[in-house]
Amino acid sequence: MSEPFEFDGRVAVITGAASGFGRAFAQHAAALGMKLVLADVDQALLDETVAALREGGAQAIGVRTDVRDPAQVDALAKAALDAWGKVHLLFNNAGVGTGGFVWESSAKDWDWVFGVNVMGVANGVRSFTPIMLAQGERAHIVNTASVAGLLSPPAMGVYNASKHAVVSLTETLYHDLKNVSEQVSCSLLCPAFVPTGIANAERSRPGDLRNDVPLTRSQQAADLQLQRAVRSGKLTPADVAKATFDAVREGRFYILTHTQILASVKLRHEDIETLRNPTDPLSLKPEVKQAPQ
Ligand SMILES: NC(=O)c1ccc[n+]([C@@H]2O[C@H](COP(=O)([O-])OP(=O)(O)OC[C@H]3O[C@@H](n4cnc5c(N)ncnc54)[C@H](O)[C@@H]3O)[C@@H](O)[C@H]2O)c1
Repeated sequence: MSEPFEFDGRVAVITGAASGFGRAFAQHAAALGMKLVLADVDQALLDETVAALREGGAQAIGVRTDVRDPAQVDALAKAALDAWGKVHLLFNNAGVGTGGFVWESSAKDWDWVFGVNVMGVANGVRSFTPIMLAQGERAHIVNTASVAGLLSPPAMGVYNASKHAVVSLTETLYHDLKNVSEQVSCSLLCPAFVPTGIANAERSRPGDLRNDVPLTRSQQAADLQLQRAVRSGKLTPADVAKATFDAVREGRFYILTHTQILASVKLRHEDIETLRNPTDPLSLKPEVKQAPQ
């Protein structure tokens, strides 16, 4: 697999495509001449995104998809094949989050965040990998985790646990694919804070998984901290998209858009290797830690 990945004329499927990184992946893919299948749970924003891309000359369809539901992800794969015949690039990108002390997270929080962040990725891998393997052509899967999949910052335990699962799932996927194919591979995207809709993820929480009690103090503080951190992000979604496509082109697995975070990753690894108790990863980022506790 030493030849660079070719994008022009190939087919990309993107989940969480109506906002943030997903929309930026779609714009970048369109500029590279890819045919697009955009999936999101937000029908109105999805329609708007598809219309804007088509106006710019892209070949794109939108398929409303809740990635938590295996049947809807199977239907997404079928719609992609019906529209364009093949799938070469899959972004399992849809994601949501909650904050606050881990013991204060409700069963509905766990259900929702793991449903989207973990089962969404698992459903994408299960539905699309066999299609890619059967095609006998170059194909690639990009799973969006987070630096929260490499670290365990306080007051975001449900999100951290979900993203650690995505990291492990994707590293395993890499090994499994390498055992059976020279054509199909995968990458793991681990961004830090970037201004997108992620701090307002509650907008897409389904009615049956909404909490019917007010936020606790730790949840309010975590919300504020997340809003501030996301707003302060220096990179744009377009920067993240460019870094991601560059990595796919070159066949790189780990995509870390904020390399300064590696100091915290190293600290965590040292904690484990020396059996030292965990260092708070935010101790290296005091500006993020200013929110009231
Ligand atoms: N922005 C950041 O700072 C940041 C950092 C690290 C990782 N991430 C990850 O990046 C990914 C993209 O998030 P973003 O920052 O672009 O946020 P975003 O809120 O702008 O976009 C997420 C999209 O996912 C969609 N979505 C939510 N639930 C869905 C479901 N069940 N099925 C299908 N679509 C669904 C939303 O409607 C939205 O359009 C997520 O996995 C997130 O965890 C974001």
